[in-house]
Amino acid sequence: MKLLEVQDLEVKFATPEGDVVAVNKLNFSLDKGQTLGIVGESGSGKSQTAFALMGLLAKNGQISGSAKFAGQEILNLPEQQLNHIRAEQIAMIFQDPMTSLNPYMKVGVQLMEVLIKHKGMSKQEAFQHSVRMLDAVKMPEAKKRMSMYPHEFSGGMRQRVMIAMALLCQPKLLIADEPTTALDVTVQAQIMALLNELKADFDTSIIMITHDLGVVAGICDSVLVMYAGRTMEYGSVRDIFYQPTHPYTQGLLKAIPRLDTQGETLPTIPGNPPNLLRLPVGCPFQQRCGFVSEQCQQAAPELIEFAAGRQRACFHSFTNTSGSQS
Ligand SMILES: Nc1ncnc2c1ncn2[C@@H]1O[C@H](COP(=O)(O)OP(=O)(O)O)[C@@H](O)[C@H]1O
Ligand SMILES: [Mg+2]
Repeated sequence: MKLLEVQDLEVKFATPEGDVVAVNKLNFSLDKGQTLGIVGESGSGKSQTAFALMGLLAKNGQISGSAKFAGQEILNLPEQQLNHIRAEQIAMIFQDPMTSLNPYMKVGVQLMEVLIKHKGMSKQEAFQHSVRMLDAVKMPEAKKRMSMYPHEFSGGMRQRVMIAMALLCQPKLLIADEPTTALDVTVQAQIMALLNELKADFDTSIIMITHDLGVVAGICDSVLVMYAGRTMEYGSVRDIFYQPTHPYTQGLLKAIPRLDTQGETLPTIPGNPPNLLRLPVGCPFQQRCGFVSEQCQQAAPELIEFAAGRQRACFHSFTNTSGSQS
């Protein structure tokens, strides 16, 4: 059985100007111990996908489709059941750790509370376990840090606290929504290395959400490239990096900073993602695509499995494997 199986997930928001479909018929699955990257520019629907799974949608949002976690449907569950799953099965970390940390409470107290509440530990047990967890996320002087407040930590250290908190109850799935976006590059790399290590130690599956395709290289098994709420391309991390077939994926790849291009301005994809209220007829990427043809403006290409485990939604025939199409 798959750990997570998402089918035709749709997230729709009612707005005064009409319905916004932020997530459009998304399908993906995750095995135990696997890491899936969800990549796309800002506004592509990555966070709403995660929020839908966690039951954290805004009031004007509506979810349809199915998401089975260890065989159990988790979409649109009652709050009480959701709380249970959120604490003990699926944990989430955010770009800004302060969305989950209480600024007025000592970090140790916040960690211990989780264990006392959800694991029924005594104060003493919870203290010891929390220190061990801070050690596990490589927090220097873990014991001393227990009595410090969140603002006394650096950004990277705060993110480590968040990771420790997320893993306290040994969740089967960790959803990380741009966990390193606010950090500088060196700290970013340290946090990604830490997550990579922890996923093996704790046997946790991860959904890594990021706008930066470069981030997923070292940690993900498979990658889903999202644009305007839809899957543009899906494949193993190797396929996505070495044989990207969608012009959007290729554009994202060219924008990854590399050692040999340092100092040069990287080519970003010209233009901006479309307004979801005024999507063009046809492919959502057509206005920014170098390979646009008449066909793309008449109907949206369907997502097709063109090889085992590989999907793409594009009419343009894919001709070579070097990452640049001819
Ligand atoms: N409460 C809401 N009402 C209307 N539209 C929303 C709401 N929340 C998010 N959206 C829209 O959903 C789209 C996807 O957002 P999001 O998932 O946050 O993108 P990402 O995480 O990929 O940057 C955005 O275009 C955003 O405007
Ligand atoms: Mg987001």
